[in-house]
Amino acid sequence: MTDKLIIFDTTLRDGEQSPGASMTKDEKLRIARQLERLKVDVIEAGFAASSNGDFEAVQAIANVIKDSTICSLSRANDRDISRAAEALKGANHSRVHTFIATSALHMEKKLRMTPEQVLEQAKLSVRFARNLVADVEFSPEDGYRSDMDFLCRVLEAVIKEGATTLNIPDTVGYAVPELYGNFIKTLRERVPNSDKAIWSVHCHNDLGMAVANSLAGVKIGGARQVECTINGLGERAGNCSLEEIVMAVKTRRDYFGLDLGIDTKQILAASRLVSQTTGFVVQPNKAVVGANAFAHASGIHQDGVLKARDTYEIMRAEDVGWSTNKIVLGKLSGRNAFKQRLQELGVQLESEADINLAFAKFKELADRKSEIFDEDILALVTDESVTHAQEQYGFVSLSQHSETGERPQASIVFTVNGQEVKSASDGNGPVDASMKAIEAHVKSGAEMVLYSVNAISGSTESQGEVTVRLQNSGRVVNGVGADPDIVVASAKAYLSALNKLQSKADRVAAQG
Ligand code: KIV
Ligand code: ZN
Repeated sequence: MTDKLIIFDTTLRDGEQSPGASMTKDEKLRIARQLERLKVDVIEAGFAASSNGDFEAVQAIANVIKDSTICSLSRANDRDISRAAEALKGANHSRVHTFIATSALHMEKKLRMTPEQVLEQAKLSVRFARNLVADVEFSPEDGYRSDMDFLCRVLEAVIKEGATTLNIPDTVGYAVPELYGNFIKTLRERVPNSDKAIWSVHCHNDLGMAVANSLAGVKIGGARQVECTINGLGERAGNCSLEEIVMAVKTRRDYFGLDLGIDTKQILAASRLVSQTTGFVVQPNKAVVGANAFAHASGIHQDGVLKARDTYEIMRAEDVGWSTNKIVLGKLSGRNAFKQRLQELGVQLESEADINLAFAKFKELADRKSEIFDEDILALVTDESVTHAQEQYGFVSLSQHSETGERPQASIVFTVNGQEVKSASDGNGPVDASMKAIEAHVKSGAEMVLYSVNAISGSTESQGEVTVRLQNSGRVVNGVGADPDIVVASAKAYLSALNKLQSKADRVAAQG
């Protein structure tokens, strides 16, 4: 057993399964770069066999990321495994992660296979994968609800076939900490060759216990890999949150006694990037990365912190990337200061031309907003015009009129494949009018299932960040837009969601 805890990030695979969170190849690449700066040990970049888009994203990440191991998920069949290995060819360190369900319920109702067939399939798949790559992870899906004797047989067999990591998912978030910890411990004690593989935990958050269960798997069960996502992103209530696991193990090193390879100062930038890319807003009271995580509101606490910081603070805000200097840049800041701040925030733009474009956008924003915060800069560099997205729809300009007692009107100019079009509509409010104006021209027929506005940096001078979730023909996508004018931010978010709806993605669900 080693004393290092391996951090396996699955934001780009399990996280992406959240409604509307599917990301483009470029978005995934940006996040992968940030995960590398964060120094995560393993990046699960996607599920290569699920779609051509996912294959290309895994391939692009494998070709670019050099330090972290790049992993692709695959079902337990030769085609999926070959696709995964093929996509990973360019990686310095690659891993194939293959899975098959082992609970009686999943085997009978979903797979319609007998336990003996599942055992055989698991063995064959790991054997096949080991012929292609040296690093093979095996997951018994719904492992926590599987029969212990059967699971031990499967795990023993796949280790014999060469599995190097065994991951035990609590797929439906049913576990409680003590029971899950003991489940892992029992497996490790009963599987005769358990010392030949690294044990990993993978917990979902349906009962709000994903982090606690994962920590119990580590402490009681002796697992040495945790699978997690930035901001706890994931289907339903999400996955185990990376920032919480990492800061728990670091802050309570006295208890866990484990080392981590993570550069915790990159946590906040990763959190913001994932939130702005996927449109999943971080709640203010979220541990570690929420806006209030280090804000002391009560007088007693403020007084205590001023006298001695550790009276009420168990972690330092700077250690997870919060900046002590809140006001970052302004109208008079030059290109060099802007470029340096980008570097400090861990943002890497592709070329000098991209920096110039981002700087021009920064100047435009600084003309309208006297203080520019880190959040503004991060919103700006995730803007589609800076991220090279070749999108069908692009925002140009908007005017709207609203007055008490009158029905609001909006008129918008936007591009459709580079051609400017103008459209107008009225609506219940200016936001509604601007969205109706877009829809009057586009006629997507999509249903809006979520609309949310968030002030990026807290005051009325702040940029509004809007998330729009659209649903059409069974597809769900999130669009994000930021602007000091929330009607403009809303229109940008709507166009961004329409762009995502346009990109065809025939995906195979990982747990389908
Ligand atoms: O939750 C789960 O079971 C999974 C597996 C595919 C590893 O994500
Ligand atoms: Zn999962």
